[in-house]
Amino acid sequence: MNVLGIDIGGSAIKAAPVNSLNGVLAAERVRIATPQPATPDAIADTVVKAVGHFNWSGPIGCGLPSVVRNGIACTAANIDPAWIGLDVVELLSTRTRLDVTVLNDADAAGLAEMHFGAGKNTSGTTLVVTAGTGLGTALFRDNTLVPNTELGHLYLHGRIAEQIASAAVRTELNLSYPEWAKRFDDYLHRLEELFWPDLFIIGGEISKDHAQFFPYLTIKTRILPAALRNDAGIIGAAVAALQRGQG
Ligand code: BGC
Repeated sequence: MNVLGIDIGGSAIKAAPVNSLNGVLAAERVRIATPQPATPDAIADTVVKAVGHFNWSGPIGCGLPSVVRNGIACTAANIDPAWIGLDVVELLSTRTRLDVTVLNDADAAGLAEMHFGAGKNTSGTTLVVTAGTGLGTALFRDNTLVPNTELGHLYLHGRIAEQIASAAVRTELNLSYPEWAKRFDDYLHRLEELFWPDLFIIGGEISKDHAQFFPYLTIKTRILPAALRNDAGIIGAAVAALQRGQG
């Protein structure tokens, strides 16, 4: 089944039709700058634009940097607070007149990695960590997702981990990779002692530079870079739509 996968982020909205059975993009993706302020209406307009760009009439899967329960956004990270409490499925399906599935963006990236990327054919407990503007997490037992884990908000050295160890913090503070790796390593140690995962998968914008910081990590757990890089959010949103269709 082909699904239009959409990854809504604080700085860009990316979309492409995806073959949700094999995770392959069926057309080149589009990238549209996130409107500022990133209000529900402004983002819905952008989603309508993406639908028009692909002349799309099938199902849509959409990742949002929010805790999403039963289609309702419960938090809003790097997007307008007006999202909180909003029925996102209702908004986007009314505006597009199409069938819409919505989930957390890190959960979407995780689903893609577990189905078609670094976590394919693995079992046990896997923690996918996406390091970009924020720190997102997706927790899996075998292939089953425990949604909305929000472990980027754990406290580390008395502060929210995301404010210490995201990729954005590295850029803001102009940290070298060894300097940033120390922070990220502390964070992974915390996750390791709380969850005892069998595998970490590191995604988000930082994953393309994994060779520059993996050598400094001292955790015992097996660790892999995400295989699908920037397309993981789009592909995973399509997987979620397929799963909902089947469920
Ligand atoms: C948010 C998560 C999101 C992550 C990555 C965090 O700030 O709380 O919901 O998955 O950023 O975008």
